[in-house]
Amino acid sequence: MTGFDPDWWCDGAALRGREYLSISRDGVELARAELDPQSTDVDEYTGLDLPATVVKIEFFEVRKQLRGRGVGRWAVAALIQHYEGPWFTVAAVTAAGFWTSIGWTEARHAARPCSSTARYLFNANALPSLDHGSDL
Ligand SMILES: CC(C)(COP(=O)(O)OP(=O)(O)OC[C@H]1O[C@@H](n2cnc3c(N)ncnc32)[C@H](O)[C@@H]1OP(=O)(O)O)[C@@H](O)C(=O)NCCC(=O)NCCS
Repeated sequence: MTGFDPDWWCDGAALRGREYLSISRDGVELARAELDPQSTDVDEYTGLDLPATVVKIEFFEVRKQLRGRGVGRWAVAALIQHYEGPWFTVAAVTAAGFWTSIGWTEARHAARPCSSTARYLFNANALPSLDHGSDL
């Protein structure tokens, strides 16, 4: 048992354009992420002026045994620092509350405000500083 869902992480089945990150501390793998650092999956969202490309988190998982201890929050902060954005997005089917809890904004599609697809966005430029104030 690895602590990660085998259905989400198919060994060797990397998709073109995607990046796969493993986030570890003291030799223990804490979280995994699959990202598209140049995603053009940028619709028009009410009140947001987005660039042509964003960093899209396709999958993100915290090791099962370590959930509920702030690891997810810490690992997403590490991803943001790694890519520097400036814009990040995730389409959350489950765990929507996680993204809002860590400060991401639920976005409403301008043309389909009642769409059931939940999209969350984060602007790294809104952070006070990416270079200071972190112990990552
Ligand atoms: C969702 C997930 C990434 C959260 O990781 P975690 O390490 O347990 O989260 P944290 O402990 O850092 O929690 C940070 C905040 O999010 C909240 N939160 C965590 N999981 C949540 C969930 N499933 N629903 C709602 N809120 C959640 C916590 O209560 C906490 O809020 P607080 O700071 O106000 O107390 C993890 O449960 C997981 O890997 N789930 C399976 C995969 C998944 O759903 N991935 C996300 C979609 S791509």
